Amino acid sequence: MMELCAVVAAAGGGERLGAPVPKAFVELPGGTLLEHSLRSLAQQGVSFAAVAVPPGFQPPRPVAFPPGMEAVLVEGGPRRQDSVLNAARLLPPARVVLVHDAARPFLRPGLLAELAAEALRHGAAVPALPCPDTLKIVEGGAAVRTVDRSGVHLVQTPQAFRRDVFDAMLPLYDRLHVTDDAAIAEAAGFPPRAVEGSPFTFKVTRPADLELARILAARSAP
Ligand code: CTP
Ligand code: MG
Repeated sequence: MMELCAVVAAAGGGERLGAPVPKAFVELPGGTLLEHSLRSLAQQGVSFAAVAVPPGFQPPRPVAFPPGMEAVLVEGGPRRQDSVLNAARLLPPARVVLVHDAARPFLRPGLLAELAAEALRHGAAVPALPCPDTLKIVEGGAAVRTVDRSGVHLVQTPQAFRRDVFDAMLPLYDRLHVTDDAAIAEAAGFPPRAVEGSPFTFKVTRPADLELARILAARSAP
């Protein structure tokens, strides 16, 4: 059976980025955000990806899939979790399912092997980074309260789920309202293990993130 397959969420409009095309189709040196993300996954052993893309959007050119990766495109839904569910229905049998944001083009070496090992042993695993900054509640322009940040982590993708766990999560995608897939694993009774995330696995969200991603992509572009 295949070891790693992936759902790639690429169906968002990218409102905060404000680009003229949906975010996953924004070009960096060496390809679009989506193409970089697919390549990063393929380089670490993902051989199949189900990619949720914006409904009705015609990319200016066909998506270039990395060598050795089979991929299918499916229309996403209104929320990220709807897009993930649509794509999840197309996954082949595999020991571990990864769910990844197309908006995170760079993965640290070794990440997928660590995620897969933890997911196989414990059911689910996520990359997490300790929050480096002080957290405050700001209301009406005033920093009214400092939040205790001990234990607070920033959680990234890919997130990894053992296949039986992912199958148990699927019915919950319609019932819960979540911002990541790990929250569904938690609700299904499988609190994810945390492996070391990376600052390079940031999500391209705002224009400054795109500037950084372009610099990093140019550094490694062929
Ligand atoms: N995504 C998706 N389907 C949606 C919404 C988001 O597949 N209905 C994907 C995005 O394409 C992105 C990932 O989920 O790769 C993370 O979401 P986010 O960074 O919020 O992207 P957008 O929703 O596109 O951006 P924004 O919230 O600024 O509009
Ligand atoms: Mg969004």
